[in-house]
Amino acid sequence: MSTTDETPAGSGTPMIEMVDVQKHFGALHVLKDINLAVPAGQVVIVLGPSGSGKSTLCRTINRLEPIDSGTIRVDGIELPSEGRKLAELRADVGMVFQSFNLFAHKTIVENVMLAPLKVRKQKSDAAKKRAMELLDRVGIASQADKYPAQLSGGQQQRVAIARSLAMAPKVMLFDEPTSALDPEMVNEVLDVMTSLAKEGMTMLVVTHEMGFARRAGDRVIFMADGAVVEDTDPTSFFDNPRSDRAKDFLGKILSH
Ligand SMILES: Nc1ncnc2c1ncn2[C@@H]1O[C@H](COP(=O)(O)OP(=O)(O)OP(=O)(O)O)[C@@H](O)[C@H]1O
Ligand SMILES: [Mg+2]
Repeated sequence: MSTTDETPAGSGTPMIEMVDVQKHFGALHVLKDINLAVPAGQVVIVLGPSGSGKSTLCRTINRLEPIDSGTIRVDGIELPSEGRKLAELRADVGMVFQSFNLFAHKTIVENVMLAPLKVRKQKSDAAKKRAMELLDRVGIASQADKYPAQLSGGQQQRVAIARSLAMAPKVMLFDEPTSALDPEMVNEVLDVMTSLAKEGMTMLVVTHEMGFARRAGDRVIFMADGAVVEDTDPTSFFDNPRSDRAKDFLGKILSH
């Protein structure tokens, strides 16, 4: 567990590294000088008020959004801004959003096989075998031949996680993965994320699930107005927030 931006001795290259990253949308400065080093296996919870830049931060890490300046490396490799190399490196970073975005006209197992077939050029048999293993891991193997609309939201989100894992990513980014779910389905998705964390996946998780943040997080990044305002461990953050912005945020979110 690391509570600073420094890489712990002996752990080598950070899995995610952002150095002096700046991003604007027009006149709006949405990421202000972000410096962040995430060691392999760390689970980073990203918190902050609406509009503080959490989604944009995630999206820059796999270049869904270009940055104005600075450097972003994943496992020591800087992402190129475009081209074939970008497609390959982007596959190292899995991303799961609030909306599941499964292909409606493909079955569950076909959804999970698609990227390995197209991007990794895997053979169909191998891709199917791997897809079934991953569906089993997220508890959906028995639904493999159904279509997305036949599954609950929680099940669809677990498929979306399996689909990301099929590319064998080095990093998983989660942007409010449970926000669109009915309350009774939230835990089944958080359980899958918790087991991924225990298996050593490097994860960046934007979430409003404070119980999960405390339990599964190694580190909390609190953002406000595009800047990282606090960077500490979950216990310190929740029990002893230092900035007024964080105190205000926690006051609102914990009084629900
Ligand atoms: N494509 C875009 N074009 C212009 N402005 C954008 C774009 N995407 C985001 N923004 C703006 O950038 C700021 C940061 O947005 P972002 O979505 O990263 O915030 P967030 O912390 O994820 O918020 P939320 O908690 O509501 O999801 C906001 O002011 C938003 O309106
Ligand atoms: Mg967001």
